[in-house]
Amino acid sequence: MRGLRPPAFSSASRSREEPPPREVRSGAATRSPAGVTAAEHGSALWASRLSPRGAEDQALAGGIMVTEQEVEAIGQVLVDPKQPLQARFRALFTLRGLGGPGAIAWISRAFDDDSALLKHELAYCLGQMQDSRAIPVLTGVLRDTRQEPMVRHEAGEALGAIGNPQALELLRQYCSDPVVEVAETCQLAVRRLEWLQQHPGQPTVAGPYLSVDPAPPAEERDMGQLREALLDETLPLFDRYRAMFALRNAGGQEAALALAEGLRCGSALFRHEVGYVLGQLQHEAAVPQLAATLARPAESPMVRHECAEALGAIARPSCLAALHAHAADPERVVRESCLVALDMYEQESGPFQQDRPEQPRPPP
Ligand SMILES: [Fe+2]
Ligand SMILES: [Fe+2]
Repeated sequence: MRGLRPPAFSSASRSREEPPPREVRSGAATRSPAGVTAAEHGSALWASRLSPRGAEDQALAGGIMVTEQEVEAIGQVLVDPKQPLQARFRALFTLRGLGGPGAIAWISRAFDDDSALLKHELAYCLGQMQDSRAIPVLTGVLRDTRQEPMVRHEAGEALGAIGNPQALELLRQYCSDPVVEVAETCQLAVRRLEWLQQHPGQPTVAGPYLSVDPAPPAEERDMGQLREALLDETLPLFDRYRAMFALRNAGGQEAALALAEGLRCGSALFRHEVGYVLGQLQHEAAVPQLAATLARPAESPMVRHECAEALGAIARPSCLAALHAHAADPERVVRESCLVALDMYEQESGPFQQDRPEQPRPPP
């Protein structure tokens, strides 16, 4: 799967501030002017989903033109349980990049799958698309107690990410859900929506990462203060998340190590978000803590899953042993995450990723 990112489509060739206009048109050509198919682009988008470059790709995805038949072909891959998981994830990320009601409809259809990993990613993508037309399906998933906690959590988070106050009443109802991860997620989502109401006109996506986060980054810049806020379990989760995203945006080894300390904090939801953020940061300093958390059988599968994917995103040789060690883990969501992470590793360490700025690459 190496080499799917053509040089003509590399992030260096376009400004992050100037995404091209959305051009998803029925009956239009299936290739962008750069010669990239939607499916190829979905691969690149999936492979770098966590990184700033991934966010940039997300913006660029609007430049891909597809036919309705191609959207359908991509959707069919997503909903087909016989397809390999990696192919289904790529289809999902392609649909996410394309956006629109057709993409939302296909993504919605996959919620009756039996992979919690895939379903939670469906909800994540619907949230990141920030399209209010996804509110009904996400509402259904949050309400459906047959769905795994990890999936319901992601539906709640997505309802917060969309940013439409229409979801507030529902989210308030689920702030006391018996599943603690769901309750905490809804509390955060309510705080986010209230924050947006109190700060009208503020960009919902700011800083080097274009992901829609469950909380805005703190304004504090002092790393010591941010670390303290992150690890202070007496503070509201929303404030600790704000410190988390400010540390991520600051980047570097000090931030990575402070965040990695968060993998020992009390809330599984918090720890899983730390894992996710460390994947975005892609700093090798966090690899030992991520690998140790992945290896802890008593840890929540949701946290172990996020650590596995972070190791795939960091994509250094030091990550490989841990991913291989858990590729047959008895916990399905962990096992599948390792497979997906190994796929990401392949992409992240592919020939078009040699210019990553965070860390010098060790000699081969
Ligand atoms: Fe999550
Ligand atoms: Fe996740």
